[in-house]
Amino acid sequence: LKRSDPPGTSAPILQLSASASRAAWLAAYEAVRGETERRAAPLSAEDQVVQSMPDASPIKWHRAHVTWFFEQFLLVPYSANYRVFDERFPFLFNSYYVSAGPRHERPRRGLITRPDVERVTAYRQHVDAAVRALITAADDELFATVHPILEIGLHHEQQHQELMLTDILHAFAQNPVLPTYDSGWRWPVTAGKVSAFAELAEGVHTIGYGGDGFSYDNEGPAHRVLVGPVRIARQLVTNGEWMHFMADGGYETPTLWLSDGWATVQTEGWKAPGYWREVDGARFRLTFAGLEPVDPDLPVCHISYYEADAFARWAGKHLPSEAEWEVAARSGMLDDAFGQVWQWTRSAYLPYPGYGAAPGALGEYNGKFMVNQMVLRGSSLATPEGHARNSYRNFFVPQARWQFTGLRLVDHPD
Ligand code: AVJ
Ligand code: FE
Repeated sequence: LKRSDPPGTSAPILQLSASASRAAWLAAYEAVRGETERRAAPLSAEDQVVQSMPDASPIKWHRAHVTWFFEQFLLVPYSANYRVFDERFPFLFNSYYVSAGPRHERPRRGLITRPDVERVTAYRQHVDAAVRALITAADDELFATVHPILEIGLHHEQQHQELMLTDILHAFAQNPVLPTYDSGWRWPVTAGKVSAFAELAEGVHTIGYGGDGFSYDNEGPAHRVLVGPVRIARQLVTNGEWMHFMADGGYETPTLWLSDGWATVQTEGWKAPGYWREVDGARFRLTFAGLEPVDPDLPVCHISYYEADAFARWAGKHLPSEAEWEVAARSGMLDDAFGQVWQWTRSAYLPYPGYGAAPGALGEYNGKFMVNQMVLRGSSLATPEGHARNSYRNFFVPQARWQFTGLRLVDHPD
């Protein structure tokens, strides 16, 4: 196992070198598959079926889809005697891989009561047994071919582990009695609260993944960029700062907003971050542990790009570009870069110079989404340990706010 993680995250069990032992790959497989089930464990069968909006998926669907990914891309092509668990499942659990065949419409995933959760568990066990057998029995040549697919399958499952938490919180938020996912849950401890800016002098820097571990294709090619001069906030914007924006009429002042953002504020009726509630004049937010008073010192969370952009304009500042963020993170300038909230950048999700998606269905993983979305950097409290890195590019449409999303600011000298 190799440590190449950014400061603030723990050992990435998945940064295995190509020559790691079969035992290490088996251990990584068990760890990731087990974490998915651990996250699903507090949820009843009813919890696992609901789809609270088109962008969210049922927990049962996540558990099956990540399993289908291994079946489709690893076992069917490379495991000689593999028997597909149920030939109807690829239609139900293929998400968006057009090259992998037809699929059920995403907004209707919540209408699938069969297979039930037990049968999805059986599907997971069937695929687990076959993947273990493949890892153990493949000769070196076959293992060299399949280990990149095994590896992306594990990172893929980790992405869905985060989505499971964001999606169940959204589902619970629809319930007037506000269920709790984990009554012992607490917001992770954050760095100090001294607001400070770090200076990034003008310079040419390399961004993008340059290591020899795993990265997604969208993190490369590494390339040089001109950055600065710019001052970047060491800290995340807090709930307290956000309440100043609200008190100053931030949500009611059209000149602070992008046109699409202002239209969204009107149609959605936004007056505060997602999951905020007012009870007897006091502000609360819905968390995994239920309603909690809004803590002014914690990072603001569940805001869209439009809100982050409007806040930055109100503050007389800007959102960082993804290059500014990455250079500052590599230099150790950022507190809470990882493990709190994903940070919106002002960068559109575009291919890096020279980017090309891989041929075939797996080439659809990231590349085909490179329009109309914005890049987020860092990681969140829902991101599995060791999943993210300095070069990691998350992306969502600018109106999305059910993820754990926040912001930090930059200041450009006049
Ligand atoms: C990178 C989080 C936008 O949600 O579709 C899951 C992650 N990719 N399966 C998404 C992903 C394939 C992706 N995001
Ligand atoms: Fe997926």
